[in-house]
Amino acid sequence: MKLRLDKYLADMGLGTRSEVKKAITRGLTEVNGAVVKKPECKVDTETDEIRYQGRPVGYIAYEYYMLNKPAGVISATEDPRQRTVIDLITSRQRDDLFPLGRLDKDTEGLLLITNDGALAHRLLSPKKHVDKVYYARIQGVVTAADAEAFAVGLDIGDEKRTLPAKLDILESGEISKIRVTIREGRFHQVKRMFQAVGKEVIYLKRLQMGSLKLDENLETGAYRELTKEELEALC
Ligand code: URA
Repeated sequence: MKLRLDKYLADMGLGTRSEVKKAITRGLTEVNGAVVKKPECKVDTETDEIRYQGRPVGYIAYEYYMLNKPAGVISATEDPRQRTVIDLITSRQRDDLFPLGRLDKDTEGLLLITNDGALAHRLLSPKKHVDKVYYARIQGVVTAADAEAFAVGLDIGDEKRTLPAKLDILESGEISKIRVTIREGRFHQVKRMFQAVGKEVIYLKRLQMGSLKLDENLETGAYRELTKEELEALC
């Protein structure tokens, strides 16, 4: 891919576009061993060797991270007051990462963080009906009748009923444990589906999105890069 030199450096987090422009005109950048002072100079991300202040800067077009989101962090790119999921990705190279979909502030679990807009479109498009699997603890006894209601689709106060969802009851009691698979991503969807059957979600964790499963070895709040296999399966 061919890019302007100032964009290359800014994409790699070396400063804002105007900061890197100034640095380039001051002669701090080399392309294939020669100082280049023109920010608009086109470089090839695959073949050109770029150095900034003497240090090599490789180009990373896309980043993909699996985060085990902790509660208390918001699914946004930036916020003046609250910690965001992007703040947790401390080794990120690019400054255009975003969470692929949202989890509520109190929801834990699988969140994909990337800057790949095409992948986001593929996975989030309402027409695609990508499965999302959640584990939840529910206040109250979850029954087979609830599972049937989920399987038919529920009125949660939106214009349309929810699509059929699969509710597996793992334990039923004063506090029940369940796994639910939904094919949409409506606002507070799992919580509102349980409200619709008169129950309350007291803990919610996403386990899977499409083919991507939360790595059991990732502690809450930890993240890692996606493997090649995980990425290929998603694409
Ligand atoms: N459903 C919810 O209610 N909350 C989430 O965070 C995700 C799905």
